[in-house]
Amino acid sequence: MPPTVCVIAGDDAAPEVVRPTVEILRELAPSIHFEEAISGREAIARTGEAFPAETRAAIDAAACTIFGASGGPSRPILWYLRWGKQTAVNIRPVRWSPGYRSPMLHPERIDYVIVRDNLEGMYPPREGDLKELSQLASSASWWQTPPTDVEGSYAVRVNTDEQARRIAHATCELALQRQAAGYPGRVTLGAKYSILPRTDGRFRAIVRETVQQYASLSYQEFLIDDLARRLIAEPETLDVVVMGNEHGDILADAASGTIGGLGLAPSGCYGEQYAYFEPVHGSAPDLVGKGVINPTAMLLTGTFLLNYLGSDEQAHRLEQAIAAVYRDGKTLTVDQGGKATTRDFMAAVREKL
Ligand code: NAD
Ligand code: IPM
Ligand code: MN
Repeated sequence: MPPTVCVIAGDDAAPEVVRPTVEILRELAPSIHFEEAISGREAIARTGEAFPAETRAAIDAAACTIFGASGGPSRPILWYLRWGKQTAVNIRPVRWSPGYRSPMLHPERIDYVIVRDNLEGMYPPREGDLKELSQLASSASWWQTPPTDVEGSYAVRVNTDEQARRIAHATCELALQRQAAGYPGRVTLGAKYSILPRTDGRFRAIVRETVQQYASLSYQEFLIDDLARRLIAEPETLDVVVMGNEHGDILADAASGTIGGLGLAPSGCYGEQYAYFEPVHGSAPDLVGKGVINPTAMLLTGTFLLNYLGSDEQAHRLEQAIAAVYRDGKTLTVDQGGKATTRDFMAAVREKL
């Protein structure tokens, strides 16, 4: 049976990159069956629900999903793709390619991968009223005691050892794979273990122990604030970088800034039973309808989908075609200093293909 991919266009400007990307993927890999399921405002208008049962059934029936981004209406679908399908590991490569409009003096040094916890930490939101913390207040020492007699709120951060092990193993396996291709086999952990010993400290201990089981890999760790600086000041020291959910979320956007922006940053979310593919960027509401959103992040995300389904050769061809468009530098979108529309860019990629 040929694999089916569920397509979720998402909100705001996301459909403007998802649909043309799917067109190209269809042409490249005709044996893969892409089927769009309704989402966002369209789903609400047609069914009265943001996440209709038919969309959920389409996600379940597919081998994997390609997702644009949620600007609000599609959020329940995103929650399902993460926590419903337990897509535990978010892989976000950060690699400059000639022609990307980087603000860095030496962008050619940037070539690493962020491995981000996709399920735990600060997300999903578990928030509440400060008054609910009165029990905790009695067991905390004076400097940690939360005020519970004033208006305010709290958020809970949850980490399980099982998920930490999953992330750690995925990180090491990726570092091994990269090592086989000539990378140094270096795992870098970023966390706030100094001030959060029981959550980030525990995550750090599990990652450390796991890396020790891989004789050929080396390990370094930095407090997350210092790691933020290193992404900018010494990106060449990074190979595979592992972080918790909210840290990886924030620093993946920052890292994209070093190569030339969110328009260039792809990602894939992998679980034991399922995977879905979305760019790092959001729904870019400021670009809706202008026809200028950069589809590169989405196209590169599409190459991960092709790899996941075993179409490695097609993935490679698409990656090469995109790289060739940037090397030429004649058909770049506005975020890359050019004048090309999304459609012009897609035509240039097609020509290279
Ligand atoms: P955003 O990533 O949508 O946009 C940030 C900036 O980057 C904007 O100026 C935007 O125009 C630009 N940008 C983003 N993608 C681009 C592209 N492909 N080409 C050119 N420029 C691009 O982030 P935001 O504005 O903070 O958030 C907008 C909405 O997206 C919010 O509702 C947010 O919650 C949501 N969001 C969703 C996801 C997701 O679905 N996984 C991820 C991030 C943000
Ligand atoms: C991302 C986004 C999401 C996240 C939001 C929309 C929940 O920022 O995918 O990077 O933080 O995970
Ligand atoms: Mn994000």
